[in-house]
Amino acid sequence: MEKNIYLDNAATTPMDPQVLEAMLPYMREHFGNPSSSHAFGRKTKTAIENARRTIAKELNCLPSEIYFTSGGTEADNLAMYSAINDLGCKHIITSLIEHSAVIKTAQMWADKGLVKLSIVNLLPNGHIDLSHLEELLSSNEKSFVTLMHGNNEIANLLPLTKVGDICKKYDAIFHSDTVQTMGHYRFDLKNTHIHFINAAAHKFHGPKGVGFIYINRGVKVNPTITGGGQERGLRGGTENLYGIVGLGKAIELAYAHLEEHQQHVSGLKQYMKNELIKNISGIEFNGDSANPDSLYTVLNTTFPATANFDMMLFLLDLEGIACSGGSACSSGASKGSHVLDAIDALKSGRASLRFSFSRNTTKEEIDFTVSKIKDLCAVEVPA
Ligand SMILES: Cc1ncc(COP(=O)(O)O)c(C=O)c1O
Repeated sequence: MEKNIYLDNAATTPMDPQVLEAMLPYMREHFGNPSSSHAFGRKTKTAIENARRTIAKELNCLPSEIYFTSGGTEADNLAMYSAINDLGCKHIITSLIEHSAVIKTAQMWADKGLVKLSIVNLLPNGHIDLSHLEELLSSNEKSFVTLMHGNNEIANLLPLTKVGDICKKYDAIFHSDTVQTMGHYRFDLKNTHIHFINAAAHKFHGPKGVGFIYINRGVKVNPTITGGGQERGLRGGTENLYGIVGLGKAIELAYAHLEEHQQHVSGLKQYMKNELIKNISGIEFNGDSANPDSLYTVLNTTFPATANFDMMLFLLDLEGIACSGGSACSSGASKGSHVLDAIDALKSGRASLRFSFSRNTTKEEIDFTVSKIKDLCAVEVPA
């Protein structure tokens, strides 16, 4: 029987059928414009505000601190735009392992000459060097610090509270891209010193093209999309109603069963790691991904130099196994990743593959995948 094994959940996750069920009435019957004052509009406005309330409750923040966006990239852009244009930041601190939505945007602002850009040092395992962060903060004017919570490629986790406290000490604005951790970890925003975090629903079994940004009520930002007064004036345009309803449902489901999902998924990741070590001599793991305390959805491997090593992604695809050779958003392309490059993991010239798991992943799928990898790695390099 042809296999259909999906191990690329850091790129996107399948939508939960319950999420689709929640969305369907807003595609069929409840179509009113949420800005309309009649009953049709009031119905859909209520659905949007309910989704906002659900998110705020899970993150321990106020509903008025949640703004819906088209996803993670828009929210990353918005945080940086606001820090520079509205919050007086003249200096950006970020790292080379950030998502392109952050690192390329920071580079763009620096190229325009509007901010100074500093890249914080990484420790050998890819973790942020926090003493260098302090050095950068103490020797520069008002800074915007943007460091991701869970790395989509190498699974490193940032200690949010610790970094928030450092930023507080230096009066810096702090944003963390939480796209990979939202719906997978609990947040307590009232008790964390952070100004912006963000999410994309499709990373936790919600629909694509919708997400949100949390903006701490202590910071006042101006609209980036002007026109209509939607999203309390911050982002004009008729809302993505059924997307937002789906996002609300996806958050509700993720947090209702969080500990169960965490246990299941992290168990599978450790199982796959152990099976790979047992079966593939010379296999290596990149960044912090083999550590039990890393982002539990991601395992990043480098294979030994066997005859097939540079074709692994393609050959696994032929076996019906989907994983990723690059970053989340360039899945399928095995061209060098800027994240692996930043931690020197590309220097061996060997293939790296990222396996990423979800609550739908099964042990049988891991067993089948490891057995195929074993077969592919058994082909010796011709003398
Ligand atoms: C860490 C991180 N940030 C941002 C994004 C972009 O999210 P979206 O595709 O929803 O714009 C992604 C997507 O892969 C991501 O993994």
